[in-house]
Amino acid sequence: MEYEQVTPKSYPVNLIKKDWTKRKLFYRSPTKSVPDMIHDLEIFEDDVWIVTNPKCGTTWMQELVWLLMNDCDFEAALAKDLELRSPFLEFDFAAHGDEKRALQRVLELPSPRIIKSHLPLALLPAQLWQKKAKVVYVFRNPKDAWVSAYYHGVTVGFQYGKTLHQFIDECLEKQAPKKDPVLHAIEFYQLRNEPWIYYTSFEQMKRNLRGVIDDLCKFLNKSITDQQMERLLKHLSFEEMKKNPTTNHLWELTQWPHADSGKEVYNFIRSGKVNGYKEELTPEEIERADLFLSQRLQENQVTLEELLLLD
Ligand code: A3P
Repeated sequence: MEYEQVTPKSYPVNLIKKDWTKRKLFYRSPTKSVPDMIHDLEIFEDDVWIVTNPKCGTTWMQELVWLLMNDCDFEAALAKDLELRSPFLEFDFAAHGDEKRALQRVLELPSPRIIKSHLPLALLPAQLWQKKAKVVYVFRNPKDAWVSAYYHGVTVGFQYGKTLHQFIDECLEKQAPKKDPVLHAIEFYQLRNEPWIYYTSFEQMKRNLRGVIDDLCKFLNKSITDQQMERLLKHLSFEEMKKNPTTNHLWELTQWPHADSGKEVYNFIRSGKVNGYKEELTPEEIERADLFLSQRLQENQVTLEELLLLD
């Protein structure tokens, strides 16, 4: 998939002081007007935005936030595909290439809106950093996220004919500088103490989901009963989400024009492991990925453990 460099109409200079003109930003081509439409999108104060790099536990967090924002209505959650309850901002344009319907589902969504995006901070709607609507950010070790992206891509048809090893080469050489997972996370990590930002990680959700739910209740001004907490923990478990048709992106699969070209189909909720990459990548690939990450981490004076909230 090709990405082209874009310059937004304005930058979040009120949030992070840096020379934003040096921040290289990319958007899926071919497009000119969609980044501007997103920049100008109206934000509502009760919006909740879930922002991540792809394959970092977005779906897991969406289901959790949707339930907290909808009084733990499990029956309603089980009745409708998550991607319809909580749309993915960039999805419709990516799937259909039609500017007219690019943001239609988001514009028609009733409030409170729970919107997913993989865009970097500076390409998100400008009103987000002006009005400061709530943002939940989830980071994950990029090595696990890359492996996960490969399997998802095979199912959707992006990785047709490619091996995992070819895909990892592409991530480390061609793609990752344009979709830099470290820089993406650092900008939100820097904002983690802002009252309108909740920053967490996939690893943290695996380690202490109950704690993340407690934190989110405070962040979203919601309270739940002990019984609701127990049901949430069960509903959000890997086993339950794996067998839940509404959390496995089945609607999404019907939208991609090349959905049938995947040579093998993997369940969206696939293996759900921390450090699963160790079973998938060769020692040489792990070394190259570590080098790639450490260069970016050092440039930004942050460690992977800090970004993963593991120290
Ligand atoms: P794997 O492919 O490593 O299994 P996203 O929603 O951002 O695309 O992330 C998808 C990843 O989150 C997949 O990772 C998926 O299995 C994992 N995931 C989703 N729900 C999960 C859960 N309840 N428990 C553990 N992992 C989960």
